[in-house]
Amino acid sequence: MRNHEKKYIKSRKKLMELPKSLDDQQEMIGEKLNFASQEAYKLLRTNLMFSMSDEEPCKIVGITSALRGEGKSTTAINLAYSFAEAKKHTLLIEADMRLPLIQKVLRFDHAIGLSNVLAGLSPLEETVQHHVFLDCLSVLPSGEIPPNPAELLSSAKMKQILSQTSKEYDYIIIDLPPISVVSDGLTISNLLSGMLIVVRPDYCDQHALAETIRQLEFLNVKILGFVLNCKGKQKRKSRKYGYQYRYYNQDSYQ
Ligand SMILES: Nc1ncnc2c1ncn2[C@@H]1O[C@H](COP(=O)(O)OP(=O)(O)O)[C@@H](O)[C@H]1O
Ligand SMILES: [Mg+2]
Repeated sequence: MRNHEKKYIKSRKKLMELPKSLDDQQEMIGEKLNFASQEAYKLLRTNLMFSMSDEEPCKIVGITSALRGEGKSTTAINLAYSFAEAKKHTLLIEADMRLPLIQKVLRFDHAIGLSNVLAGLSPLEETVQHHVFLDCLSVLPSGEIPPNPAELLSSAKMKQILSQTSKEYDYIIIDLPPISVVSDGLTISNLLSGMLIVVRPDYCDQHALAETIRQLEFLNVKILGFVLNCKGKQKRKSRKYGYQYRYYNQDSYQ
C-alpha cells in the first residue's frame, strides 16, 4: 500500500463524531431524510438542472471533496434519489472503490459492482441494480475492493461504461474519492459534465480544499458548485443533532 493510501485510510479516524451504525446511516438517505434536508436536495437538483446546458442528452455529475468523510456518498445517494423522484432516469455510480459505503447502506446482497465490470469479470448489464427505491433509479455499486482503483478508473473500459450508460440515462451521478488524498477522481474528470464539491466546514482543511479547487481548475474541470454539509443547531428539546445542506455555485463562493 502506498503512503498516500495509508494516509487516506487513516483519515477515517477523524470521523468519530459522525453516525457509525448502519441504521444511523440509513436515516441519512432517501425518504427517511428529514423534511428540510429533502427540500435542500430538491433545491440542489434544480440548481444543477439550470447550471448544465440542455445540449448534452445525459449529464454526468462527479461528486468529490477534499477529504474523506465530508459527505460525498450521502450527497450522491440523495441527489440521485432526488433526480429519480423528478422522473429523470438516473444512474448512481460508486467510484470510490477503496472505501465503499453505498452497497452497504443500500443493503445489496453481493459485492459485485464497478470494479468487477472494469476488470472484465462481470457484464455491465447484469451488474447495474435497477429500481432501487424508485423506478427511475439504478445503481452501480463499487464492487469488490481492487488493488489498483486508480488504474481501473482511468482505463478505456470506464470511458466505454460512461458512453454506453449515457445513452440510457438522463443523469449519471458519480461518487468519487476525495481529490486531495488520491488522484482517482481526476483521472475521469474530462468525461464529466461538471463536478460538485462537498464541504464539511467543521472538518474540512482549508488548504486541502484550496488544493482540490486548484487541481480541478488546472484540468479545466467545470466546478458546478459547492454543497455545504454541516451540523445544524441543536433543537432545545431534542438530543439529536440535525444537519443542514446548502448549495453555492462557484460565483457566490468567490
Ligand atoms: N449531513 C449529515 N448528517 C449526519 N451524518 C452525515 C451527514 N453527512 C454524512 N454523514 C455521515 O457521515 C459519514 C461519512 O459520510 P459519507 O457520505 O460516507 O462521506 P464520504 O463519502 O465523503 O467519505 C457517514 O456515516 C454518513 O452517514
Ligand atoms: Mg464515500
